[in-house]
Amino acid sequence: MLKRQLGPCVTFFPQPATLVATQDDDGKVNLMMASWVGIVSKTPPTIAVSLHHGRKTYANIMATGTFSVNLVPTSLAVAADACGLISGQEVDKCQLTGLTTVAAERTGAPLVEDSPLNVECRLVREVELGDYRLVMGEIVEIHAAEAAFDATGKIHAEVFDPLVYLGGIREYRSLGGRVAEAYKSGLELLPKK
Ligand SMILES: Cc1cc2nc3c(=O)[nH]c(=O)nc-3n(C[C@H](O)[C@H](O)[C@H](O)COP(=O)(O)O)c2cc1C
Repeated sequence: MLKRQLGPCVTFFPQPATLVATQDDDGKVNLMMASWVGIVSKTPPTIAVSLHHGRKTYANIMATGTFSVNLVPTSLAVAADACGLISGQEVDKCQLTGLTTVAAERTGAPLVEDSPLNVECRLVREVELGDYRLVMGEIVEIHAAEAAFDATGKIHAEVFDPLVYLGGIREYRSLGGRVAEAYKSGLELLPKK
């Protein structure tokens, strides 16, 4: 495959679109679009979010020690994008977008009600990366839309309909269809025992 070198940049890497929900010391809720997000450990369950140190969201997490990461379904693309264009230092983004939150029982972190998947977190560690802070949260609870489960408990991904962000070309996309089964489809290439 012929390749073009793009230099040491962050251009083009598919990323999840999420809303990080936080609150300040006075309980005022803020929502921020974040795509530099990923699960980084299963044991203990941990998620990491990379935040510029100037974000209101970063200040809120440092103040309260809690936050939530909320999956953005395609239906919320415009509202979530707005949460990535202006700081909570300037506007109330819940009022701006009409998105609502509810306080999580265990941590008190705000959870976005309109999101089908809320990851409730408690801050455990941060790593300084230049202007950014890799903020790691212990996953205290996952709140998943009831509608995603069938009678046998199987999860149907279409209900989550996650928005995908393509950095560099600055496009939001939806997922295509199912391609193959993970942790299984590759077995056919493994040496036979
Ligand atoms: C698609 C998209 C993804 C973004 N991802 C991040 C991110 O991962 N980390 C970050 O610090 N800022 C990210 N931003 C920028 C913040 O969302 C933006 O600066 C926001 O206004 C900060 O809000 P706050 O000051 O209320 O926390 C992203 C913006 C967009 C539109």
